[in-house]
Amino acid sequence: MEKLEQLKEEAMQAIENAQSLSELQQQRVHYLGKKGPIQDVMKMMKDLSAEERPAFGAQVNEIKKAVSDAIEAKRGELEVKEMNLRLEKEKIDITLEGYKPVIGNIHPLTLVQQELEDLFIGQGYTVAEGPEVELDFYNFERANIPQGHPARDMQDTFYIDHERLLRTHTTAIQTRQLELHAPHPIKVICPGKVYRRDDDDATHSHQFTQMEGLVVAEGIQLSDLKGTLEFMAKKMFGESRVIRFRPSYFQFTEPSVEVDVSCHVCNGKGCPVCKGTGWIEILGAGMVHPNVLEMAGYDSTKMSGFAFGVGVERVAMLKYGIDDIRHFYTNDVRFLKMFKRFD
Ligand code: PHE
Repeated sequence: MEKLEQLKEEAMQAIENAQSLSELQQQRVHYLGKKGPIQDVMKMMKDLSAEERPAFGAQVNEIKKAVSDAIEAKRGELEVKEMNLRLEKEKIDITLEGYKPVIGNIHPLTLVQQELEDLFIGQGYTVAEGPEVELDFYNFERANIPQGHPARDMQDTFYIDHERLLRTHTTAIQTRQLELHAPHPIKVICPGKVYRRDDDDATHSHQFTQMEGLVVAEGIQLSDLKGTLEFMAKKMFGESRVIRFRPSYFQFTEPSVEVDVSCHVCNGKGCPVCKGTGWIEILGAGMVHPNVLEMAGYDSTKMSGFAFGVGVERVAMLKYGIDDIRHFYTNDVRFLKMFKRFD
């Protein structure tokens, strides 16, 4: 009996001292396994008298249970301890900076085009588009520029064959729109890419972007055009801008005008941007030529209209102080990133 007590003390101590789950497991195998000291003590049963045996047996069972309970309790304690150790070891340092994906931004030409579209849509215009590979018919014939007309020289372009070419102006969209809507009123803006046979330099490009506007209805006058363009100039270059008309010539408008806007840099006093004149030329415009209206199916004695065509690059260059048109097309990210509105 004494030996049993001693054994229990020893087992309890060993369990208490276990530092890890694997150490605890070793103690379990040792004390509760087939070849452990408790089994050895059991073997002494046969030397005892019949009266002594039940008490001895009960004592052994009690020790086994006490040892087993102690092991379970210790296991719980060690599990928590080892889990905490693992969590400590596997801690992720979330303060480390990650990789930022590169997010693009809207191209400055698109930005200006959208801005122009927004202000005209706000005035009740709809946006119309057309093909870049265009028929000679819509690009020239319907714009009152027949075969052999000298004006064709100024708008030489890339020809696909005798009938098809890369359109030289978005006026081609307008002649299509006129045909589509005649004899009814129309109010559209026509943005798009256009092409010319040109030598590229800081202010010329063989491909560029235009946005034209066209309004046809009963009683449309030159004053309507002036009001519309002044509104656009103020929206694009500031509320204090004014515009002026100078006589000009286009085959598809009569009368035709060049439109200048007062310089937004010097406010009209004269500076390098406006070449000392106080005015900057921004677009061509005029009253739609009766021939153009008639060819499309309008009665030019009842209906009249105005049209204007603005270069999107030109507006963007003035607005953002860009000195070379080629920046728009070479896709240098240092240039493009300057038009990022947020990070
Ligand atoms: N189509 C002309 C150009 O490309 C611009 C323009 C449009 C002029 C409409 C008058 C009216 O130069």
